[in-house]
Amino acid sequence: MESITVRGNARLSGTVSVSGAKNASLPILAATLLASGTHRIGNVPDLRDVDTARRLLEKLGGRVRGHGVLDIETGKETTAEAPYDLVKTMRASILVLGPLLARVGRARVSLPGGCAIGERPVNLHLMAMERLGAEITLEHGYIEARAEKLRGALIPFEEPTVTGTANAMMAAVLAVGETTIENAACEPELVDLAGALATMGARIRGAGTKTVVIRGVKKLRPISYTVMPDRIEAGTLMTAAAMTRGDVLIEGAVPKHSASVMDKLREAGAVLEEEGSGLRVRGPGRLRSVDVKTGPYPAFPTDMQAQFMALLSVSRGLGVITETIFENRFMHAAELKRMGSDVVVEGNYAIVRGKKNLSGAEVMATDLRASASLVIAGLKAVGETIISRAYHLDRGYERLEEKLASLGARTSRVGA
Ligand code: EPU
Repeated sequence: MESITVRGNARLSGTVSVSGAKNASLPILAATLLASGTHRIGNVPDLRDVDTARRLLEKLGGRVRGHGVLDIETGKETTAEAPYDLVKTMRASILVLGPLLARVGRARVSLPGGCAIGERPVNLHLMAMERLGAEITLEHGYIEARAEKLRGALIPFEEPTVTGTANAMMAAVLAVGETTIENAACEPELVDLAGALATMGARIRGAGTKTVVIRGVKKLRPISYTVMPDRIEAGTLMTAAAMTRGDVLIEGAVPKHSASVMDKLREAGAVLEEEGSGLRVRGPGRLRSVDVKTGPYPAFPTDMQAQFMALLSVSRGLGVITETIFENRFMHAAELKRMGSDVVVEGNYAIVRGKKNLSGAEVMATDLRASASLVIAGLKAVGETIISRAYHLDRGYERLEEKLASLGARTSRVGA
């Protein structure tokens, strides 16, 4: 199993580029199931989750070629089963439910089960499909969904769900009549998905707002489409630059997608300026602690919470993190404590008292964003940090440790 070694006392400087967004690529790749023919999807990051999505598309009868730019051939015939071995490695496999139902009229998708950041039920996905007229049964650990023809409907989400909204959008584009999604998630990745669907010929209004209206069409066509930059990778790099007193130009960062993170970094004392097609981030000195509360977009993203715990661990004063999206997303706290972080977790709060430095230690990555927090904490630790289970990092970051090394950090990978 691979580990990542990070040497502390880093001060990042230079220019780095943001890769394509994981959480936009995954629904857009699933959306290619909606139209037979060859799709070309560009700016797809080279990640383990993308590999899993690729294997899933192939399992469903498609052919996928290339890296970065993927040519995806969706056959006229598509099988309709997402098996347990793929869904258990990537929950986002549930994104094939909507497109399969819409185009094939049936889907058999393994139930994802729990994961390291919480229980993560799929009831809202199922409600959306039922509203559109699907019959759903749960048997042998699988969601079995069927529909002669989906029909437009009102889909009222009791709370916003990102992949649930994506599934509802992808199911509704081929339904008969109009669908209104209420209390939709507003994440920029859903705007990107809507852009891809519109390019296919779908009729969608309001993506990125709480009300999305979709008028079903009979048929969609294959597309050529480029995925948006990854705002969470951008935010991770911003945080690393600010906490190491660095000076980094992050090419491809989209400020309007990262406003809540940028506001918090500025409140902590970092200097952020738009420059050309990127964002320059400087950490002029030791940062001040801030309080953060995660929430649905445009609030502070839960996917940046772990990285901010690392930042607060080395800031001046006391910061409180409130996690409102996933009940169990503090697994990184115990690992950060091994590096000397003064953090106390109480329910969905984490209270972090900043220290001047952390101390390098052997730690274990527990999930994707937790592993990123340990890597950036390692940059501010005295000595060496060894993060085992690097595969968590590779699920969602394209060679993060190499990007940090290009900015002057001393990182390496062992145990290949
Ligand atoms: N929820 C339900 N029932 C459902 C669906 C969701 O109760 O049927 C709850 C969840 O348990 C959670 C809340 O609703 O409390 C929001 O979850 P959401 O459905 O929005 O999360 P998701 O779609 O499963 C996506 C991202 C996650 C990110 C969350 C929140 C993708 C592929 N995944 O997950 O990304 O944390 O939205 O922003 O887009 C990551 O990249 O590290 C990651 C975990």
